[in-house]
Amino acid sequence: MNWEKLTHDQINERVKQALSENMSYKTKKILGVPASYLDEEQFYDDAPFLEESPFLATLIANPNHIGCHTLSDESEPFFKGTQQLEKELISICAEEIFAGDQGQQDGYVAPGGTEANIQALWIYRNYFMREHGAGLNEIALVYSQDSHYSMPKGGNLLHLKSIVLEVDEHSRAIKPDAFEHQLQEARAAGIRYFIVVMNLSTTMFGSVDDIDLVTAILYKNDINFKLHVDGAFGGFIYPFTCPESSYTFRNPAISSFTLDGHKMLQSPYGTGIFLTRKGLMQYALTEEAAYVKGKDYTICGSRSGANAISIWMILRTHGSDGLKVRMQHLADKAGNLCDRLGKAGVEFFRNPYINIITIKAEYITKEIAAKYSLVPDQHDHPSWYKIVMMHHVKQGVLDNFMIDLKATLHTNAN
Ligand SMILES: Cc1ncc(COP(=O)(O)O)c(C=O)c1O
Repeated sequence: MNWEKLTHDQINERVKQALSENMSYKTKKILGVPASYLDEEQFYDDAPFLEESPFLATLIANPNHIGCHTLSDESEPFFKGTQQLEKELISICAEEIFAGDQGQQDGYVAPGGTEANIQALWIYRNYFMREHGAGLNEIALVYSQDSHYSMPKGGNLLHLKSIVLEVDEHSRAIKPDAFEHQLQEARAAGIRYFIVVMNLSTTMFGSVDDIDLVTAILYKNDINFKLHVDGAFGGFIYPFTCPESSYTFRNPAISSFTLDGHKMLQSPYGTGIFLTRKGLMQYALTEEAAYVKGKDYTICGSRSGANAISIWMILRTHGSDGLKVRMQHLADKAGNLCDRLGKAGVEFFRNPYINIITIKAEYITKEIAAKYSLVPDQHDHPSWYKIVMMHHVKQGVLDNFMIDLKATLHTNAN
């Protein structure tokens, strides 16, 4: 993994250059599009700080990144300058972070992890229907019980039957025997095609599905599958903290990834990322998008180019080395808290490469949960509470949390 960091001035220059290659609503004759620069009363473009703020300057110029720009050079020509930076960030994610071959992946900046996940399900459903003549009742969506709710949401939208895999209560690992049994049952019930989603960290536990184990079972049972990785939580940390992993495009079982810039990368909301091997995005083509140059391959349609610029800027501000240090720091801080919890006799779950610590609810009083804004697995009857070690979580707060926690443990023990 190796991409260069740029200075603030270099970043500013690149974005300005990109904006100058876009069509400007201010200076060009643009009669045909239902869009403009942002309302000039509220978002005046002569504010002096815009000179030094490439993201805000892009927001105000308001480029639309509709479509998928990695597919060809056919996209909307109006905003080709900033679209080029989106292409660059997609290749950094696909090739540098997930070790894809150069130019062999497509992708786009989606509104969030939910859309990126559903985009994957949509592509594979259409792939099985078009290439294998599959009926809806022959395709199943497979994911663990700890998966994000975007899986049942996507299954519902796309009319896919869900197969939910059981996990072990303590290790949060998919139970292999039960999985194999469910596959065989599904086959007996007429399911012939499987869309499998692996978690590159679950939302609540930070658990990472054992993809090698799961794919070994799929191959052993001669299953016809497409596999998507939900890296919305872990996709911007795990590759940095665990460089030797099976979660890369080098793994032939994997067809696509979801990432979320608006989690670990600290980009604004609206910065999900969908990455897929070349040859698959076409299954999400909407032919009827005839007025869009290059057509549309995404769920969302119009989307702000400023979001893409924000991700590009963050990737370029830190470079691969800088992000590695930042992500390792989060993992180290999580490890340190785990050591302290362990010494206090508190039971918790943590994947050592991820920055989530999930504590059994019996150790957490309602007061502590409220005081430290801990998030439960469910609000009515919590079994677990999680701590997410983000950049804003300071050591002093963690120290106070441990003092309060130990005091309640001590009181309860007496
Ligand atoms: C594992 C996982 N997948 C998907 C999502 C959905 O992401 P978003 O809220 O950006 O749509 C989340 C959000 O927490 C997540 O943790």
